[in-house]
Amino acid sequence: MAWDDTASKIWMDGKIIDWKDANIHVLSHVVHYGTSVFEGIRAYDTENGVAVFRLKEHVKRLFDSAKIYKIDIPYTQEEVAEAIRQTVRVNDLKSCYIRPIVFRGYGELGVNPLNCPVNVVIAAWEWGSYLGEEGMANGVDIGVSTWRKPAPDTFPTLAKCGANYMNSQLAKIEAIENGFDEAIMLDYTGYVSEGSGENIFLVEDGVLHTPTIASSNLRGITRDSIITVAKDLGYEVIEETITRERLYLADEVFFTGTAAEVTPIRSIDHKTIGIGKRGPVAEEIQSTFFEIVEGSKDDKYGWLDFI
Ligand SMILES: Cc1ncc(COP(=O)(O)O)c(C=O)c1O
Repeated sequence: MAWDDTASKIWMDGKIIDWKDANIHVLSHVVHYGTSVFEGIRAYDTENGVAVFRLKEHVKRLFDSAKIYKIDIPYTQEEVAEAIRQTVRVNDLKSCYIRPIVFRGYGELGVNPLNCPVNVVIAAWEWGSYLGEEGMANGVDIGVSTWRKPAPDTFPTLAKCGANYMNSQLAKIEAIENGFDEAIMLDYTGYVSEGSGENIFLVEDGVLHTPTIASSNLRGITRDSIITVAKDLGYEVIEETITRERLYLADEVFFTGTAAEVTPIRSIDHKTIGIGKRGPVAEEIQSTFFEIVEGSKDDKYGWLDFI
């Protein structure tokens, strides 16, 4: 099944149109310079209906990313949130992945983006586990990339901007060519940053550690959710700078992200991590996370937004 077989409509600049008609001009600014900000969001099929996970926070981050690049989104945050709900509804989707994207369109082709129009598009489709069902249960194999994350005075990584993912792609390609499922990238000073599309957590003696957001990473909404859930489960969570070798010596390492959800890591650079499969802490956090997003546990944080 192709991705566009699971959905037929796309929200584009205020209108619901057919998937096949959601096109832009080849001379759009975004095509040449990566002038886009976007989100990746999941909706889950809960016992009480389809719910978008942390919709408000994702829409807020979209507007924050746009602010950094002086992109004025011609809608309010609530209007974009409602357009996202509508996109899921019109496609009759249950569990799905949602991709809102704001970009500079067809206008002028100089580097200056400010005279180009701002277009807003929302698509949604069915999408399973990003790193595979097998990986969710048994862990994935990853490699530390030779490509680093950018310094803070080069590309602002708190903006979820299309161009940032050229950097992620270098790491992802290298990882795949080396036989790994995914990459971990170091920041510009050599400390652990994040995966090509995931944040990272280590477990050492029952304590969780994750890089601070000064390590050139994205302020992940799943990262925030996992910190909250883990603290509630009684774990201490420390945000700090993390050296590469601590990855190898940790009892457990796992990724978090909208796409990857909570994915355990069983090896890094061909070194076995802990017991070489999903560890008990990752399993507890993963299962609690899924109980919350799938609605079998009380939504005490108010993270589910029913469509
Ligand atoms: C580079 C990067 N880091 C981390 C994440 C995880 O962020 P979130 O949990 O908000 O999806 C993502 C995914 O959006 C990402 O692309």
